[in-house]
Amino acid sequence: MSDLTFNKIAGAVLATGLAIVGLGELSNIVFKHEEPAKAGYKIEGVEEASAGGETAVADTPPDWAAVLTPANVEAGKAVAQKCVSCHSFDANGPVIQGPSLYGVVGRDPGTHPGMAYSEAMKAFGGANKMWDYDHLYAFLKSPQKDVPGTKMTFVGIKSPEDRAAVIAYLHSLGSTLPIPPPRPAAAAPAAAGPAAPATGGVPGPAATASPGAAAQGQAAPGTGAPTTNTQGAGATAAPAPPAKK
Ligand code: HEC
Repeated sequence: MSDLTFNKIAGAVLATGLAIVGLGELSNIVFKHEEPAKAGYKIEGVEEASAGGETAVADTPPDWAAVLTPANVEAGKAVAQKCVSCHSFDANGPVIQGPSLYGVVGRDPGTHPGMAYSEAMKAFGGANKMWDYDHLYAFLKSPQKDVPGTKMTFVGIKSPEDRAAVIAYLHSLGSTLPIPPPRPAAAAPAAAGPAAPATGGVPGPAATASPGAAAQGQAAPGTGAPTTNTQGAGATAAPAPPAKK
């Protein structure tokens, strides 16, 4: 090999190397990488919560009376597409990986016939008499966190709106569980009184916040006590005298 040939080859190798390094640099310049200052999409209602600081993101269940609407049933039907690989939504539907979810609202957890539940779910059912709205809301956010050891290997639904919608859909499927009365917190500041009796004899305004109170309201579905005939009861129970006297 002559010196000249060697030089030519060496030169070519060098040039190639330079070109590669140069291209890398160049692409860094041309395709400058910038972090977006804001996420490209926003989710209704969620931003307000995080605006108050990380701690404000307490995921309290919504006012069920306000979200169990026909529109949400429709929206929830779409969200429920995430479930159909494992769950039937038909009355007497088959067990796929999980049980049929027809009528699951108000059902005792871990009791669908023909379903081989995890020990975790059976224990959960032992401790909780039924899938009420709040329990479903917590479970569907993060099944493994809510019921550690569950066989439901589904990541969960982060969006509060989507979760509420899917629960509205579940509620539309043969559930007889009464819808909890509108949350007093929403109406209470109006003071006067019409809102207060809605808790059905449970005096505290925080009544609906605790699952126990919710169960109390639901415990007597036959009597229909919680909602009606409270005008009079409310008047006697509430110490506040009517404003006009
Ligand atoms: C990967 C499969 C899978 C997906 C996806 C899935 N599930 Fe499940 N689900 C299961 C299994 C398995 C169980 C039984 C859990 C156990 O025994 O621990 C279950 C249990 C449940 C239960 C409790 C039922 C009962 O009888 O106590 C509810 C409620 C439920 N799933 C709702 C949903 C909803 C709503 C979705 C969609 C948003 C969903 N699941 C998506 C597999 C799944």
